[in-house]
Amino acid sequence: MVPLIDLSRRWQAHGDEVEKAVARVLDSGTILLGPELEAFETEFAAYCGYDRAVGVASGTEAIRLALVAAGVGPGDEVVVPALTAVPTAAAVCAVGAVPVPADVDPETAGLDPASAASVVSERTKAIVPVHLYGRPVDIDPFLDLGPPVIEDAAQAHGAVSPAASFAVAYSFYPTKNLGGVGDGGAVVTADTGVAAYVRRLRVHGMVPERAYVHDEIATNSRMSEIEAAALRICLGHLDAGNARRREIARRFREAAPHLTFQADHPRHVYHLCVVRVPGRDAFRDGLSVRTGVHYPLSLVDQPAYRHLRRIECPVARAWAAECVTLPCFPEMTDEEIDTVCEAIA
Ligand SMILES: Cc1ncc(COP(=O)(O)O)c(C=O)c1O
Repeated sequence: MVPLIDLSRRWQAHGDEVEKAVARVLDSGTILLGPELEAFETEFAAYCGYDRAVGVASGTEAIRLALVAAGVGPGDEVVVPALTAVPTAAAVCAVGAVPVPADVDPETAGLDPASAASVVSERTKAIVPVHLYGRPVDIDPFLDLGPPVIEDAAQAHGAVSPAASFAVAYSFYPTKNLGGVGDGGAVVTADTGVAAYVRRLRVHGMVPERAYVHDEIATNSRMSEIEAAALRICLGHLDAGNARRREIARRFREAAPHLTFQADHPRHVYHLCVVRVPGRDAFRDGLSVRTGVHYPLSLVDQPAYRHLRRIECPVARAWAAECVTLPCFPEMTDEEIDTVCEAIA
């Protein structure tokens, strides 16, 4: 069976480099907040086309800390797409705010600006579009709505062009296009003040250069030196991996022109290669390759979030009912790609 993803192959390919980096960190004696993190932040910011990146404990934390930095707090509302990984909304709840789901576009699966506009009110303090499955969303229409825009780019390393948003939040969960050896995330921003604030928030609100003096109530959201060292190595392989993912998706489209793929985009990085199939379960059962479902429920149907529904979000619900994720990862062999092509043809 062709697997949906096989992370062991990533570490078989880059394991030697990572092992050396881990040894370097352990030998240095600096396990947290050291030179590896600083170097990774500089390199990742440059890769994203920004001046500043702040490494944090996870992608969920990156969204949460960006929301705090934007001044979002208890009782505020934040517009999120109804089709996303649940952490987009969980991060909003973590600051005491209310996620308000809006519908997505039928072809791109990205947040629909008109639907987002329909739920914006004077209580809306941020909008969080998601670059879902690795396909970049056009941010400009959301900027026009007024509240600060925080981009959820957890699935879109290499896809996102710099925009006038408040911040961009990344996850380095191991399965991501840029995945680490544990949890990790980053807040990327053009605003040096926002970057400095998030840097403070990730260490209990401690004042820089004044050890154990705290001017904010915050918590711990640090990224380890080992994670940062591994990410620096993987960053060097990211563009090649993304190019391979694009090539795999191109081959699938060519083999199965009858399938409805998520709309393509020149910067799509295919974190997930997703098709829509009515009668999804029978389709999956009949395939000789493993597939996934991202996601089986829209936010407005998730048991923990459905009470937040303001509008129906029929498009997100249709995506959730029909989406099928095909195997698409850089280390797939040519034979495995052929097998998937034959299976879906
Ligand atoms: C769209 C999206 N947002 C946020 C997250 C949260 O990232 P993490 O798992 O690193 O907290 C994820 C990953 O799970 C995600 O896919």
